[in-house]
Amino acid sequence: MLSKRLMDEMNLQIMYELASGHLYTAMEAYCASVNLEGFANWLKVQTEEERAHGRLFFDFINKMNGEAKIYGIEEPQGKYQSLLQVFQNGYEHEQFVTDRIYLLADIATEEKNHAAISFLKWFVDEQVEEESNFLGIIKKLELIGDNTSGLYMLDKELAARVYVPPTIAV
Ligand SMILES: [Fe+2]
Ligand SMILES: [Fe+2]
Repeated sequence: MLSKRLMDEMNLQIMYELASGHLYTAMEAYCASVNLEGFANWLKVQTEEERAHGRLFFDFINKMNGEAKIYGIEEPQGKYQSLLQVFQNGYEHEQFVTDRIYLLADIATEEKNHAAISFLKWFVDEQVEEESNFLGIIKKLELIGDNTSGLYMLDKELAARVYVPPTIAV
């Protein structure tokens, strides 16, 4: 059972997760347009992860006898001029999502909803990973600077990322 307050915020979270996917697909388009297929692949996988996160909230709400809602998603803002800008934007976005997850966890804790606390714990840990992934790429890009061979090596590394479904079952 979910309170209306928690359910409403979780329904908003479905939208935020899908919007994250939308944002990363827009970033993928920029990387593809400058022929960095590895970066594009990394962001494509990131989009798949975000869609899976949205699905987890959708399933959890339904399982908790609530009703999941699908809201519209806004067009991602931002015209990209560099990879650094893409990943800084992504890192800031993940920090926003972390705040959202903490808000949900705060409400679940306040309401002593242990099922929701347990479910959200996975997302708390996941956000540590998400922020660290984006920041890691930013740091590598800063090291690379305008070294083209370094950039191509990183592109090759990011080309190897494959989608792994979430390790949580609802
Ligand atoms: Fe997410
Ligand atoms: Fe994310």
